[in-house]
Amino acid sequence: MNIAVRYYSLTGNTKAVADAVAEAVGVKALSVDAPQAEIKESVDLLFIGGALYAYGLDKHLKVYLKTLKKEKVKKAVVFSTSWLSKHSVDLIKNGLKEAGIPVEEEFFYVKNKPSDEQKKQAADFARKFI
Ligand SMILES: Cc1cc2nc3c(=O)[nH]c(=O)nc-3n(C[C@H](O)[C@H](O)[C@H](O)COP(=O)(O)O)c2cc1C
Repeated sequence: MNIAVRYYSLTGNTKAVADAVAEAVGVKALSVDAPQAEIKESVDLLFIGGALYAYGLDKHLKVYLKTLKKEKVKKAVVFSTSWLSKHSVDLIKNGLKEAGIPVEEEFFYVKNKPSDEQKKQAADFARKFI
């Protein structure tokens, strides 16, 4: 099974979740602005995460979502962190759906910085899909 983990994180909270997810599924989490972030080879599963900033997604993630191709991503699973609102989950899901990529209904969410327990929960969540 081909799996990728991508995220955008300004202050490290979403990165911490991404790293826990990636470790659980045996890949490396890449920031969407990393040179190798583009999905060139088809993946069965893309875990993709971001946070909410002033009620919206960061531009880096918005732009990245537009680069995704349904031919290259069979299914996506969303994770997110924010202070209060889970709107970021909907915004990421909407971006994926606009690209025609099937999105798992269930998502993983943490309020701000994940605790060690929440990192374990993120890992358990990710393993369910492989
Ligand atoms: C500039 C800025 C704007 C934010 N705006 C919101 C917001 O509108 N709603 C919200 O629930 N959280 C907001 N937050 C909180 C972040 O979404 C939250 O801390 C998140 O975990 C940050 O993720 P990151 O560490 O991966 O960047 C904001 C944080 C920052 C730094």
